[in-house]
Amino acid sequence: MDSNYSKFKTVCRILKENSFDKSKLIPILQAVQEEYKYLPKEILVFIALSLNTSPAGVYGVATFFSHFTLKHKGRHIIKICDGIACHVKKSNSLINALKNKLGLKEAEYSTKDVFFTIETVSCLGACGLAPVFLIDEDIYGQMTPDKAVELIDKIME
Ligand code: FES
Repeated sequence: MDSNYSKFKTVCRILKENSFDKSKLIPILQAVQEEYKYLPKEILVFIALSLNTSPAGVYGVATFFSHFTLKHKGRHIIKICDGIACHVKKSNSLINALKNKLGLKEAEYSTKDVFFTIETVSCLGACGLAPVFLIDEDIYGQMTPDKAVELIDKIME
């Protein structure tokens, strides 16, 4: 089946479940993001047209709430803390080591195969273990660039 067809078919189902009601835009966007892990721009336009509202309005809601993302995230999300405690303990060297390991250039945040996404966050609430990062739901403290790269190797095995 054409992947575009199945993409829109899923959105149609979500719209139908929400009775094509524009007051349910947020639950609709939540359901779409749950399916795709992000909000593809063409789907935002499709939602707007289906709800008989403006694409700019839908885009505005999707960008207003930090819960929503318009970027395609990887299967594994690495959240590197760059808060004060972690920054002092050289979180920068972790960021550089991981970006280097994953072959990510300056502005890139996901690998080409969308297996990993790197994000920086301001504090993970575990400052005593700085520098810290999360891979999916697991927290890793007192990290060094070498240990970080070893972890990535293990996940890639
Ligand atoms: S500053 Fe990194 S966990 Fe708090």
